[in-house]
Amino acid sequence: MTETRHQRALIVDFGSQVTQLIARRLRESSVYCEIHPYNKVDAAFLKAYGPQAIILSGGPSSVYWDDAPMADTAVFEAGIPVLGICYGQQVMMHQLGGRIEGGTSREFGRAFIERVKHDPLLDGLFEGEEEQVWMSHGDHVAEMAAGFAVIAKSPGAPYAVIADRARRFYGTQFHPEVVHTTHGAKLLRNFIHGVAGFTGDWTMAAYKAEAIAKIREQVGKGRVICGLSGGVDSSVAAVLIHEAIGDQLTCVYVDHGLMRAGESEQVVGLFREHYNIPLVHVDASELFLGQLDGVTDPEKKRKIIGGLFIDVFDEEAKKIGGADFLAQGTLYPDVIESVSVSGGPSMTIKSHHNVGGLPARMKMKLVEPLRELFKDEVRALGRELGLPDAFVGRHPFPGPGLAIRIPGAITREKADTLRKADAIYIDEIKKAGLYNEIWQAFSVLLPVNTVGVMGDVRTYEAVLALRAVTSVDGMTADYYPYDHAFLGRVATRIINEVKGVNRVVYDITSKPPGTIEWE
Ligand code: XMP
Repeated sequence: MTETRHQRALIVDFGSQVTQLIARRLRESSVYCEIHPYNKVDAAFLKAYGPQAIILSGGPSSVYWDDAPMADTAVFEAGIPVLGICYGQQVMMHQLGGRIEGGTSREFGRAFIERVKHDPLLDGLFEGEEEQVWMSHGDHVAEMAAGFAVIAKSPGAPYAVIADRARRFYGTQFHPEVVHTTHGAKLLRNFIHGVAGFTGDWTMAAYKAEAIAKIREQVGKGRVICGLSGGVDSSVAAVLIHEAIGDQLTCVYVDHGLMRAGESEQVVGLFREHYNIPLVHVDASELFLGQLDGVTDPEKKRKIIGGLFIDVFDEEAKKIGGADFLAQGTLYPDVIESVSVSGGPSMTIKSHHNVGGLPARMKMKLVEPLRELFKDEVRALGRELGLPDAFVGRHPFPGPGLAIRIPGAITREKADTLRKADAIYIDEIKKAGLYNEIWQAFSVLLPVNTVGVMGDVRTYEAVLALRAVTSVDGMTADYYPYDHAFLGRVATRIINEVKGVNRVVYDITSKPPGTIEWE
């Protein structure tokens, strides 16, 4: 747990798929909060953490299951406001003396609620007659605990919103944190500011000053090394650390030959020239492409790249006389402990090498100044640090780079072809003013040749797939609905300008069931 001087809210996680959204809504409202698993939150935890409000998340359980997850009674004895959402509401009722009924009337999706009673929680809502909310539950409250009153209801949900004004305890049967609850963000703001009295003191300017002080304290006179990938996270971490400790920081940029067009020049230019940050630029493309020669299995590609990256980084670290600390751009979603209600281990879909891979083999202590931030907050911090907008707003790029966008065996020629095609695609996206609307866009060079005809001549060349998705955090995604004229324009340019590609297709798979990358 990290120390901050901010007011703090606590989100107790019961395993809902959307718990992170509660945190995001609070953070957007300039309120600092952390998510912790229900079984870690007890009286001692609350004393150490010092929250001024608690939100109990939803979850997949039923309070009547054996070993159903419950809140520690300390949560209700802390004398601070508590909001229970969905399963959180049921837990609160069950533990405080109400009654829950089991799942004969499961309810999923859109519902409309009406106000029963005025309450600060509902200020600014119900400007029309009803409010659209998003339900997703099996069980429901059948009888409230003493002290509670209904403040909003629907035909299917007589206890849609309940309140105990004296204790400042609230419960909603629906999910205010999801966008389908039209004024859910407003309801959460009412709870956190209106009911719990948060002033909204979590700002990036304040965070920056605090983070810098913390880095200075942690590092002292030590030396820090930071791997730059060209991505936003490592770049922001590096600039922040440089502002804290100046030339005690050295950055290492390893070019594995699978970067985007112009990437190396941009990164080196920005860091060396613009920020004057000591930077070692290693061209390791021969090594990486050599080791990847003939490798087709996606997991093997990732493992080879991850392993080589450590070797190269290690060697460079030795050359500059070693370092005491390794900086990493770890983000908050990477460190939130997830609640596994089934008790089983979660499945590895793909091994991401940049989280936790390096430190195991390198005996340096970690500096992770972004551990408390969500991606959009990292971007805000980047702007606060003066990073150019064009850099801060860049689409995410995976550590293994183009290797996982060339299914099948990788060659330098294929990487060059893909780089050219991708640069055209991104250029057209920018020209059409769509870059910031799309969460991530890229091209994939397929190991498939098709027959074409160009200027009366038969061609037999590769297929290129275009991908573009909208997403909040990469966990789920929808394909971007381009208009056909745009797709036609991109296809024509790529086929005309890139030798080796004679057919372009557009990927319309969402995640799930697909993943964003093809490997
Ligand atoms: P998937 O393909 O898993 O991707 O839906 C989700 C997001 O993660 C990125 N990604 C990676 N990022 N190292 C990274 O740093 C990796 O090995 C890696 N694999 C996927 C992907 O680009 C998308 O933004």
